Amino acid sequence: MKSLLPLFASLLLGAGCARADHYHPASPAGRAAVVNRAETDSAFWVKEAQDAITKRLKSVESVKKAKNVVMFLGDGMSVPTLAAARTLLGQRRGVTGEEARMHFETFPTVGMVKTYCANAQIADSACTATAYLCGVKATYGAIGVNAGVKRSDCEASRDGARQVQSIAEWALADGRDAGIVTTTRITHASPAGVYAKVADRDWEYDAPVRDAGFDAERCPDIALQLITAHPGNKLKVILGGGRRNLLPNDVLDEEQMYGYRTDNRNLINEWKQDKVARGVTGEYVWNREQLLRANNTLPEYLLGLFENNHLQYNMQRNKETEPTLAELTEVAIRSLSRNEKGFFLFVEGGRIDHAHHDNLVELALDETLEMDAAVARATEMLSEDDSLIVVTADHSHVLAFNGYSQRGNDILGPSTDVDEDGKPYMTLSYTNGPGFRPHVNGMRPNVTAENNFLELDWLSHVDVPLEWETHGGDDVAVFARGPHHSLFTGLYEQSQLPHLMAYAACFGPGQHSCCSGASAVSASVGLFSIFILLSFIFIQ
Ligand SMILES: *[C@@H]1O[C@H](CO)[C@@H](O)[C@H](O)[C@H]1NC(C)=O
Ligand SMILES: *[C@@H]1O[C@H](CO)[C@@H](O)[C@H](O)[C@H]1NC(C)=O
Ligand SMILES: [Zn+2]
Repeated sequence: MKSLLPLFASLLLGAGCARADHYHPASPAGRAAVVNRAETDSAFWVKEAQDAITKRLKSVESVKKAKNVVMFLGDGMSVPTLAAARTLLGQRRGVTGEEARMHFETFPTVGMVKTYCANAQIADSACTATAYLCGVKATYGAIGVNAGVKRSDCEASRDGARQVQSIAEWALADGRDAGIVTTTRITHASPAGVYAKVADRDWEYDAPVRDAGFDAERCPDIALQLITAHPGNKLKVILGGGRRNLLPNDVLDEEQMYGYRTDNRNLINEWKQDKVARGVTGEYVWNREQLLRANNTLPEYLLGLFENNHLQYNMQRNKETEPTLAELTEVAIRSLSRNEKGFFLFVEGGRIDHAHHDNLVELALDETLEMDAAVARATEMLSEDDSLIVVTADHSHVLAFNGYSQRGNDILGPSTDVDEDGKPYMTLSYTNGPGFRPHVNGMRPNVTAENNFLELDWLSHVDVPLEWETHGGDDVAVFARGPHHSLFTGLYEQSQLPHLMAYAACFGPGQHSCCSGASAVSASVGLFSIFILLSFIFIQ
């Protein structure tokens, strides 16, 4: 009798929900009222689910060959980044936020990819670009070469057997056009995956190749490859930042910043001269107004370099002179759409990664939403029937979305939960990086009392002090829409991505192709016709 008392007591308390187990404390959220009243009605959720089923039943997957392929890459766009960005999107619109969806989150197929590289548990943007653009896992830091090339091994990277081709090269070989759009330097690791074969991602211009002790003629830098080598010199659209890597170090660019090159080559001029020599129209632009003018004239080749270094973060951009990622994407698609055979376009939201490294989470989420706006623009311009759009990330980051906050709590603010000493902590924080605060009297300081709390340059708290926050080793998501989108479901190696895209578009080196699938169908149609013909003769 006596031994049953505690059980009885806990049952009573449990019934009143006054207690929770120690893993799941009765947080303020447990006592807060439900924010969205409609959600208290079961019918709300039943309808939500039934509508989703109706939508799925109605959607018909195109099995045509994809004429156009657009790949959007959110650099460092981890799964927690997606959840936080969609919440911010909703909260900016004045709703609770968690229920919001980014445009690409409405795509019919979602998969997951494993991002590790040949020699790295946690990847960088170079080996991952080689995976998702060239279809093989590579060495950390290397681009467009297989894992038989060690980082910085100039000689090994010259071996044609160890170089790999990108999906842009497969598309060009098929008579389609190709282009790149990025918010980073055009020679940065992710876009370089489209065109470069280089043993070290840091070899963006000539000096680092020489500094590493190599002959810059034998191992050309990334910028030089972009302008003078295949497939860089075949790209119809090249839009991004990073003028400095294309200009000599005694030449000022349009915004009075010096170039970096020590070989005295002005690659922007060489690009222009090449177009003249080939008798094609080419236009170089460096600001938004010129880009919008080029959007009207649509030269055959378009080179746009809008900054000496990376493009500014959208929230810090000069709205008059600097284009958005959506604008860049639109001009690129309009340019490339002139090829009747179709095109491959790579679009990178490249600064999500930089903002995460610097513990600037609001900027990271805003850059994610900017890339989503570019995806939305692409979906308006391209039909689901003939254009495949794939949205993914290269690797994760160590952003945590944590605590027991109530519904609709400011995604950028403190949790409604507090730590063991009653001190606030943030809903979004990083495992490591800049922003470490030493404990005071054995306790965490009250970060919400800091002067610049929640300003754009305020840093959330971190556990491990590091100059820069690191990448994460967890999987990233893949969203697909358009012909053969269901190929992208499941959990698989990141290096499968270009093979899947090429399969959907019927180009590339693969033995499986939907084209041969189509001819298998016509072969059986052919046999069937012979059968009919023979039957006809027999009946006669
Ligand atoms: C580009 O030109 C098209 C066609 O005139 C126009 O609809 C579109 O708004 C322009 N895009 C931008 C970014 O100005
Ligand atoms: C933390 O600082 C905020 C802002 O100054 C203050 O409102 C709050 O009471 C403080 N909390 C603790 C536990 O010190
Ligand atoms: Zn990074």
